[in-house]
Amino acid sequence: MPTTLVRNGTVVTARETTLADVLIEGSRIEAVLPGISPPPGATVIDATGTYVIPGGIDAHTHLDMPFGGTTSADDFETGTRAAAFGGTTTIVDFAIQARGTRMRDALDIWWKKAEGRACVDYGLHMIVTDLGNAGLEDMDDMVREGVASFKLFMAYPNVLMVDDATIFKALSRTAKNGALICMHAENGSVIDVIVARALAEGKTAPIYHALTRPPRAEAEAVHRAIAMSEIAGAPVYIVHLSSEDALNEVREARDRGVPAFAETCPQYLLLSIEELERPNFEGAKYVFTPPLRPKEHQPKLWDGLRDDHLQVVSTDHCPFCFKEQKELGKNDFSKIPNGGPGVEHRLSLIYSGGVHGGKFSANRFVQLISTAPAKLFGLYPRKGTIAVGSDADIVIFDPNAEQVISAKTHHMRIDYSMYEGMRVKGVTKTVLSRGRVIIDNGAFTGKPGAGEFLRRQTYSGAH
Ligand code: URP
Ligand code: ZN
Ligand code: ZN
Repeated sequence: MPTTLVRNGTVVTARETTLADVLIEGSRIEAVLPGISPPPGATVIDATGTYVIPGGIDAHTHLDMPFGGTTSADDFETGTRAAAFGGTTTIVDFAIQARGTRMRDALDIWWKKAEGRACVDYGLHMIVTDLGNAGLEDMDDMVREGVASFKLFMAYPNVLMVDDATIFKALSRTAKNGALICMHAENGSVIDVIVARALAEGKTAPIYHALTRPPRAEAEAVHRAIAMSEIAGAPVYIVHLSSEDALNEVREARDRGVPAFAETCPQYLLLSIEELERPNFEGAKYVFTPPLRPKEHQPKLWDGLRDDHLQVVSTDHCPFCFKEQKELGKNDFSKIPNGGPGVEHRLSLIYSGGVHGGKFSANRFVQLISTAPAKLFGLYPRKGTIAVGSDADIVIFDPNAEQVISAKTHHMRIDYSMYEGMRVKGVTKTVLSRGRVIIDNGAFTGKPGAGEFLRRQTYSGAH
């Protein structure tokens, strides 16, 4: 069992900031104390002047996912390696139940996609498209397999959308089996009418993707999702929340004591609707759902993160190359595959904008990118903190180092960056996954297949 000592760093958890060394025996943390003497034979990592934080947890990625007539460009190898470069040591990806099939079929397919490829640990949510005869029993079956959360779509009619009866039945089941429903909250039926009208008027450019999905369509669905969760007596987690309107719905519910949770993503905090107006079809690089909003929404979302109206920052990493993939929608914005890349830069973007931007503390940063998703998705305290007995998923993060983000230097398998040229302050240097160094001062030293499937516990009153 290898022994590693991370020395002289500042350990930052969601609760405290302390000068301490971290002793690792094998895959677990053995001690967190100041002044630990290196045991004989231990590998010593000097963390002087840097932060030692728990590995990032990205609770929303789509690797190797068939969608929009193509497949997302990163598979489990390239996507998890890129995640590791940026300090993310756990992802929770989405398996998709194809209509008319059992959830176990989907689970088998996604396990195969990850097998031998994942460079960091991974869990899976199950996207429910069809409760059929056995769907509710299937949900219990998934929970027993450690797939303790389900995503339901209120958008994409005829593709992934399910009706309110299905949503209510699924929520009611989670009230019994303890799982958590993740909701894509947009009113898909209304949006489809607006999209059809736009196309009939010859409005085919990427910007119409955003203009046909108004914030009120998001807020209405968030309101409905929360109301149904209240009736069912189950918690609900709103994914990729993008607008002030939607945030107000979550805040109002939480103020009443309702267990409603929500994540937002770096793109909604840092980019705005103008990106979709880029010339030469380049706006397509920013086509994802919900869409980017006018700039005024951004400070509201940052405030929401600070004040715990929003609990998590994930990426919704769903990369499609500009060439050949985004180009599928050259003459019709509704055919542009929806999704954007981001798994690599979440920590730097949120540290830079959030902590250096004076919006919240380094402890809140750790909570948003690691501890809160660990708690909500049944991984805590194995993941999400630096404590005795936890997995030694550790990031040595230099809060003062700077980096310019570019597709020329990133590790995601995609031909553009949504943040091209953006300078960020706060950079991942070294990463340990269960005690093994997988990024060593910016170089990948991990191994495809070393990442393990995580059997997650059910949501357990984390709020
Ligand atoms: O545009 C997006 N967000 N693509 C990924 C699928 C989803 O809805 O999360
Ligand atoms: Zn979604
Ligand atoms: Zn998504």
